[in-house]
Amino acid sequence: MTVLRKRSDTFPYGRWLVCRPQDYDVRYKINPWMDTSRAPDKALAREQWCTLHHHLLRLGAWLEYVDHAPGNPDMVFTANAGLVRGNDVVLSRFRYAERQGEEAHFRAWFEVAGYKVHSVSRGSFEGEGDALFAGSKLFCGWGFRSDIEAHEEVGRIFNVEKLILAKLQDPRFYHLDTCFCPLTNDVALVYPGAFDPEGLENLRSSIELLEVPESEALHFVCNAVVLGRSIVLPAGCPETYRLLEGRGFSVYPVHLSEFIKAGGAAKCLSLRLEQMI
Ligand code: ARG
Repeated sequence: MTVLRKRSDTFPYGRWLVCRPQDYDVRYKINPWMDTSRAPDKALAREQWCTLHHHLLRLGAWLEYVDHAPGNPDMVFTANAGLVRGNDVVLSRFRYAERQGEEAHFRAWFEVAGYKVHSVSRGSFEGEGDALFAGSKLFCGWGFRSDIEAHEEVGRIFNVEKLILAKLQDPRFYHLDTCFCPLTNDVALVYPGAFDPEGLENLRSSIELLEVPESEALHFVCNAVVLGRSIVLPAGCPETYRLLEGRGFSVYPVHLSEFIKAGGAAKCLSLRLEQMI
């Protein structure tokens, strides 16, 4: 007798969208990390991406791939494709012209994959870069790349029970996922200095916060991929690893120096397609 199993039984940590770094580069500057005179080492970037990819697979993630459309050097950062809940996706509407060319490619991928595709009508919205679910709560960062009115529209599209808005104030942490990462429905990593006081208070009253030091936030330690109790995150952040291990998580550090040159790391390089926490 054949027993049909849900894919989520076999791959308990969900599906993720990634993009091989075929045309990855730093060709313009839209955040303080990018410096066109400090090009990423392409071979090393490929190696680092492959190590990340290997960890995700080996820890039980199911990966989907979108082709890297030439001429869109930041397309590897699939977290910015949009925000997914069930079979619905709200596509990103990028702040800067430099990334707007990616929108049609991501749209095509979601359409072919059978998603119901939505867009925001006003303001800019940069997907999971600035909007992260923790159970029924949606945490939203604004101030640099995404706008409040866009987040509110996303909240209505997904019928979100609780939308938590937090203003980002430090340009080095220009996306929410550079300084905040839900680990479960109840606890999140955070670099407090990235938020204005009211934004930080909004976060604190909605979820328990585990604070990381600035030195490790600058290594993108909050830019982590959470697969159940396993966390794949940037290398070189021992204090945060101890913090996480003390809470029962296992950490899998990966060197991502070549992507940090564009202002992104592990989480930016993946988009959650199925919500498992
Ligand atoms: N260079 C890209 C940008 O500035 C990096 C995106 C990083 N993605 C993220 N989800 N934080 O848009």
